[in-house]
This record gives sequence, structure tokens and C-alpha cells, in this order.
Amino acid sequence: MALIVSGYGCSAIAKKVAGMLGFKYEVARVRSFPDGELYVRLPQGLKDEEVAYVVCYGRRPNEALAETVLAVEGLREKGAEKVVLVAPYLPYLRQDAEFTPGEVVSSRVIARLLAKLDVDALITVDPHLHRIRSLSELFPFPAIEVSAMPLLAAFFQKEHGTGVVIAPDEEAERWAKTFADTIGAPYFVFEKQRMGDEIVSVTGAVKRGETAVIVDDIVSTGGTLGEVAQKLLEAGFRDIYACVTHALLVQDAEARIFGSGVKEFISTDSVHNPYARVSVAGVIAEALKGVVNV
Ligand code: R5P
Repeated sequence: MALIVSGYGCSAIAKKVAGMLGFKYEVARVRSFPDGELYVRLPQGLKDEEVAYVVCYGRRPNEALAETVLAVEGLREKGAEKVVLVAPYLPYLRQDAEFTPGEVVSSRVIARLLAKLDVDALITVDPHLHRIRSLSELFPFPAIEVSAMPLLAAFFQKEHGTGVVIAPDEEAERWAKTFADTIGAPYFVFEKQRMGDEIVSVTGAVKRGETAVIVDDIVSTGGTLGEVAQKLLEAGFRDIYACVTHALLVQDAEARIFGSGVKEFISTDSVHNPYARVSVAGVIAEALKGVVNV
């Protein structure tokens, strides 16, 4: 039987996964020293254990990276036999090209950093893969991708029936397609142009309809959802919903989302947020069954 260790701010989801699998559950103590350095204290009794360390990158990607390095290497030092990194949300994947000369391609660099750690496998939910087709192009160890989209779609269908599924851009088409297939609805893909961290514009001639559900992997500032919702209102849609896996919701994201006509926003618990109506614990637990002894 494996052991689930919850990293900083991960206890709810880590506990759920442990409960589903009947695994032991422990919490790592993670805190910052006054100068900002990170302190990680792992639980006792790790020798020869198979350990799944749950790290929540959410709104603290840089601290969580340091946490990952310390925790993974620490687990090994303390004799863990297997280390599985469970990252419900995997950050740094959006900068996947040198859009402007000199830019560092973060997705590749961060993956190389993680690949240097003594990890046996990685499990994550709906990673932002656009120019990269699969996580195996980034990681030398098994990197398992599970999806929340069918779960979000089933939840949406139960609560609201059906509607036109909307992808804000080509990158979101794969999510919209899965969502649309699950509820048996059509989907439409806008074209998105990003002018700044918070400013985007979308174009596309969507046919007038009654209910629309915008689907994406990540909402950060809410700029994308807000812009798409406005276009849908202009196109005559009456009921606009949004379903997103990773709800980072930074700055005034909620005001942008609801201020632009989104009636209800639905997300998962991959990042702690008040709109998590769907849990990714089940899909993570299923994936874990394939990499540790149950
Ligand atoms: C990028 O392509 C992602 O899929 C999201 O569309 C993006 O991260 C959303 O960011 P924001 O909420 O700041 O517009």
C-alpha cells in the first residue's frame, strides 16, 4: 500500500485521493523562512515506501517548484522506494515557444528541471499542450495526463442540459471537442489574439444560439473568458456558462467573468477555488493505480 503525502495547500485533494484508494495519508510541513527560503519537513517512516507527493502549484508556481525539488529529493534521501509526483495543475506550459527573440521557452526548461529530479512518474490533469503533443516529449519518466473535461461536461449536462460549446482559441479546441462529444453538442472555435497579460481579443462568426458554454483549461485573469462572453452576448446568446479545469482566478478575474455576462462559472479542485463543483481526485486515483501497488 502506498503513502500519499500532501504538500502545501493540498490537503483536501490529497486526502480525497488517499481515501479513494485506502492509502495512508500524511502531510508535509512546508513554510517560508523570514528571508523567503522554503522549509520542508517530511513525515516519518518513508523507508521503502511508495510515495505519491501531491504538490499544488496553483497561484504559487515558483514556491511550489522549490517545494517540489526539496520534497522529491528529500523523499529519496529518506529512503522512499518510489516517488510519484502528483501535480493536479502543472504550470509553466503556456510559454511553449520563443514568440519574441530572447524569450526563454519555459515549458522545455522547467520540464528539464523536473526531469533531473529523482521522480518515477508524474500525474497531472489537463496540461496545457499546444505545440507539444504529449507530455512524453517533455519528460523521460512516465508522465500521465488525465482529463477533467468529461467530468465537467457531465456535470454541466446534469445541471443545465445542453448548449453550443465554445473554445476561445485553437488551443482550447481539444477541450471543447471532448466536452461537446460528451454532451452530444456542436462546438465552435474562436480565434484569439493576445495583446498583453490581461488583454485579448477574439474574432469569429459564431451562429446565434440560446445557451453557450465556454470551455478552457485555465482561467487566469479572466480576460479570455470575459472577451468571449461579450462576443457571445453580441451574437445573441442569452445564457452563457463557463467550465474550466484550472481556476487560477488572479487579480479581478471574477469581476471580469461575471461582469461580462457569464451566468455561472464551474471549475475543478485542481486549484483551490470557490467554484470547484467537480473533483479531479477520482481521475488522479485511477491513474495512481497504474503506477503504485494498490
Ligand atoms: C491559454 O491559452 C490558456 O488556455 C487560457 O486561455 C489562458 O491562460 C487564460 O488566461 P486569462 O484568463 O488571463 O485570459
